[in-house]
Amino acid sequence: MADLEITDLHVRTEEREILRGVNLEISRGEIHALMGPNGSGKSTLANTLLGHPSYEITEGSITFKGEDITEAEPHERAKAGLFLAFQYPVSIPGVSVANFLRMAINAKREEPIQVKEFRNQLQHAIELLDVDRAFTSRHLNDGFSGGEKKRAEILQMAMLAPDIAILDETDSGLDIDALRTVAEGVQRLHDEQGLGALIITHYQRILHYVKPQFVHILMDGRIVLEGGVELVERLEREGYDQIRQEVGASAAAAVATGNSSPPTHV
Ligand SMILES: Nc1ncnc2c1ncn2[C@@H]1O[C@H](COP(=O)(O)OP(=O)(O)O)[C@@H](O)[C@H]1O
Ligand SMILES: [Mg+2]
Repeated sequence: MADLEITDLHVRTEEREILRGVNLEISRGEIHALMGPNGSGKSTLANTLLGHPSYEITEGSITFKGEDITEAEPHERAKAGLFLAFQYPVSIPGVSVANFLRMAINAKREEPIQVKEFRNQLQHAIELLDVDRAFTSRHLNDGFSGGEKKRAEILQMAMLAPDIAILDETDSGLDIDALRTVAEGVQRLHDEQGLGALIITHYQRILHYVKPQFVHILMDGRIVLEGGVELVERLEREGYDQIRQEVGASAAAAVATGNSSPPTHV
């Protein structure tokens, strides 16, 4: 059984159904990429995994480590070991990066973390991710560059040591340094902590720095194509339109023969 199991997930907003039967399994130690054109439902999936109240699950389920979390509150999901990188990190006046990290850790624990233990963990994360120590004394997001915001986020991820991290569109609008911070951070946490990750992206850029073992392509609320990293290269060559045409043709053939259309595996 995979750690995170998304089964036949149907999600709607007030207006219409966005996800129309998504199946996805992710375990610790696996890096997955979910790619798709704008508007295909990628962020809807990320927000639904987070437990965002605007998205209604009408069918299907989400289980995490064997527990049904379809209806769980966001903080319960985080406590269980799911991590959602925020797309729009907030700035908190007067709170240093280190204090923020301590708060984040304590939110997941019954007892506050001991000073010494916290210091050791922070030191380890700093070394693993190659972060300047002085950075942790700065105020969170106060005048941070895009890259520094991402560094704080990846540090948070290292400290919380989640089983599975979901990163939505972390490459949009990021300069190359910020992108590498995220990509290399994910790769190191994967290699060292056995992190599992779902990297959600429209572009291929980030996938030049972190290598997914599994690639899924989402179109119109369904995963239509799955494969390995060679799919990223194919997308780069052919673009989404070409893939849409092919998938459309095979789905039509399946309807003609009475078979439903599971994603094509390449
Ligand atoms: N909160 C919302 N309310 C209404 N419509 C939404 C909401 N979130 C997303 N949508 C719609 O769902 C579709 C998929 O959006 P989204 O999941 O953001 O796609 P992607 O991240 O792949 O670009 C779009 O048509 C978008 O307008
Ligand atoms: Mg999006």
